[in-house]
Amino acid sequence: MDGPRAIQMNELDQVISFLNENLRPDQSWTIDQEYPEVFNSKNTHNIQVVTDNENILSHAAIKFFLIKTPFGLFKTAAIGSVVTDPNHRNKGLSQSLLEKCIASAKEQQADFAILWTDLFNFYRKLGFELAGTEMSIIVDKNLLTTPSKLKFMDTLKIAPESILNLYSKHTVGSIRTVQELNRYLKIPNTKLYTAWDNNQLLAYAVEGKGADLNGYIHEWGGGVSHLVELFDYIYKSQKKPITIISPDNCSNLIRTLKDHHLTVNTGYLGMIKILNTKNLFSKIVRHARSLGENKFIFLEQDNEYILGVKSNLFKTNSEQDVIQLIFGPHSDSLLNKFDPETKKIIQKVLPLPMWFWGWDSV
Ligand SMILES: CC(C)(COP(=O)(O)OP(=O)(O)OC[C@H]1O[C@@H](n2cnc3c(N)ncnc32)[C@H](O)[C@@H]1OP(=O)(O)O)[C@@H](O)C(=O)NCCC(=O)NCCS
Repeated sequence: MDGPRAIQMNELDQVISFLNENLRPDQSWTIDQEYPEVFNSKNTHNIQVVTDNENILSHAAIKFFLIKTPFGLFKTAAIGSVVTDPNHRNKGLSQSLLEKCIASAKEQQADFAILWTDLFNFYRKLGFELAGTEMSIIVDKNLLTTPSKLKFMDTLKIAPESILNLYSKHTVGSIRTVQELNRYLKIPNTKLYTAWDNNQLLAYAVEGKGADLNGYIHEWGGGVSHLVELFDYIYKSQKKPITIISPDNCSNLIRTLKDHHLTVNTGYLGMIKILNTKNLFSKIVRHARSLGENKFIFLEQDNEYILGVKSNLFKTNSEQDVIQLIFGPHSDSLLNKFDPETKKIIQKVLPLPMWFWGWDSV
């Protein structure tokens, strides 16, 4: 057996065939079309496999993103397409590959890793915990009572520059180039809806992404009132409910949609594991200082996490608690572990707003 190891450039086609066979057996497209930023020649050093006699037995890939937040930029490792050949499962192959991915992401200075899964206990063994907040809002009724004056389109033939222009107004999300956006627009099963006034793009919304997110608007941008008009158009033209996925810090949009008495559900962003405590904690402390909390301390020492104010420091070795303290959600049982002063600071400073728009999911 060989690996876990990164693939060679000439093995990329074999990896794509392995993943198509095991993860997308019924689709007409290939996995690299669905994840153009993961499965390309520039990312082969982040595509990890275990092989035997030149056959792939197990696979996991990393895609790094630089995420802009009010706390600063964070380098994040999104891990995906984790799969083992059905004839070689339960031998620890996936676990060893994921350990390799975590080590490699640490070496490449990522602040944390994230993945999307329903195998919670499998990933908990590796130190991942459910964290962050995802809101989903179901649009199942008309949002406008009078006709909109905007012009709506549902075509992918829109200049990526104009979408990027609206996208970059988000306070949280990955840093993207026009070229990346252009490749995202070519993902199979993607629908793009846009709202215009006098040839000016005012709002966009994206539904579907390859085999995932059908019926979900997983990317959107523009002003709140224009977005509401666009969602109304999508609902009316599809004649079936659609679900808008949103970070919880987009409070104006969420409030406006709640005013229409729509159902709003709260879930987790994903499973997260912290990789670089020094960088992550120091940016949180710096943010606390900028909010006037000069006494706040947050550091890792001798495998313990220490936080609080100088006179009243809390120590824990629970990686899980720290992940949820940083990214939320803040349950009462978590917050009540702290004295009232520290609890107040934690609630003022954290959670760190974190979000991955749908096109970046791997
Ligand atoms: C999920 C999946 C990737 C796991 O792959 P795997 O190589 O069998 O995983 P591992 O062998 O490392 O771990 C599987 C189980 O075997 C156990 N195990 C680990 N090392 C072991 C060993 N040496 N011998 C026996 N069992 C072992 C693990 O603890 C784990 O137990 P758990 O299910 O109770 O958590 C595989 O089942 C798969 O490809 N599923 C379909 C695709 C999928 O769902 N991917 C996940 C997307 S997030």
